[in-house]
Amino acid sequence: MGAGHGPPHAGPCAARRCEPQPALHAGGAPGQLRASMASPAAGLVVIVGSGLIGRSWAMLFASGGFKVKLYDIEQQQITNALENIRKEIKLLEQLGALKGTLSAEQQLSLITGCSNIQEAVEGAMHIQECVPENFEVKKEIFAQLDGIVGDDVVLSSSTSCLLPSRLFSGLTHVKQCVVAHPVNPPYYVPLVELVPHPETAPATVDRTHALMQKIGQSPVRVLKEIDGFALNRLQYAVISEAWRLVQDGIMSPSDLDLVMSDGLGLRYAFMGPLETMHLNAEGMLSYCNRYGEGMKRVLKTFGPIPEFSGSTVEKVHQAMCAKVPDDPEHLAARRQWRDTCLMRLARLKSQMPSQ
Ligand code: NAI
Repeated sequence: MGAGHGPPHAGPCAARRCEPQPALHAGGAPGQLRASMASPAAGLVVIVGSGLIGRSWAMLFASGGFKVKLYDIEQQQITNALENIRKEIKLLEQLGALKGTLSAEQQLSLITGCSNIQEAVEGAMHIQECVPENFEVKKEIFAQLDGIVGDDVVLSSSTSCLLPSRLFSGLTHVKQCVVAHPVNPPYYVPLVELVPHPETAPATVDRTHALMQKIGQSPVRVLKEIDGFALNRLQYAVISEAWRLVQDGIMSPSDLDLVMSDGLGLRYAFMGPLETMHLNAEGMLSYCNRYGEGMKRVLKTFGPIPEFSGSTVEKVHQAMCAKVPDDPEHLAARRQWRDTCLMRLARLKSQMPSQ
């Protein structure tokens, strides 16, 4: 993630003007354009870093009616992002999977690029940082933003694993800072983990929570920062036991994956592990009463943290490549299939009656 990007740019955009970037509505029907202009956008959101995650955020915010400015240190990345977003949004509309109530052209008309950070953030209500997962690069971006923003904007980071206390400490606007960690691909997997710095104002988290809901995401609050936040801690717990079961010769790698995809995962798409407990007995108390001792007995047999190396990694690698060879074409095709599945699942979930 983010590997291959150069060191932080010294004084980004100092010498660059904010050349007017083509708005995305170039081919739009005039009627549609007028419609979006007639209803003023809900506010301005700035995306800092126009890579994979920045593009997804841009599409999500536009789907909620927000004006979006895409900034990047690389002009070409902005151009690519605008082109890529246009294709994606058009395709989603054709598939009937476009989020929000605005048409594709209306959403596209809300997204523009800007290669000058100072001009980009002017009037912004929310800034979503999406630069590579590199502490120094992120620190520099937040220091830069800290120097140019006012007291009303939320400064939000997409970081997967940097703790807010490391990332935001020392900033003048620390009260306005929060981590909003999305899950890939954010357009189909709506969870966003909100993680405050100890000095983050509660209003910052509340505002970001409301904003995420407004764009159709599913925000959760990590009340105190912890390494891995919640999603990766759960994910790593699953991965480590999966690894041990293969390592100890209990199960083949392909069967192990089926335990999740044709077993646990089907329930987990609709309810979490705690509600699963509640329903798998006569309520939570009954579950703990019936199965508590058994769970503890099994949990005591869990082995140490795996090394993720040696003969087991070779075995798992071979099994995975037999199913999906690890060249770019096969990986891209399988990701495409995964995203199609997720899109259909998202549609199913939205059609399910809520209780
Ligand atoms: P990416 O590498 O696709 O995009 C990063 C973008 O930031 C590039 O366009 C790059 O030109 C730009 N950039 C680099 N330095 C910059 C600077 N100083 N100022 C402005 N732009 C700069 O990265 P990706 O995958 O989009 O990740 C972004 C963030 O999102 C990371 O923190 C990552 O951990 C997080 N994230 C990524 C997920 C994923 O699956 N890719 C999932 C959840 C979070």
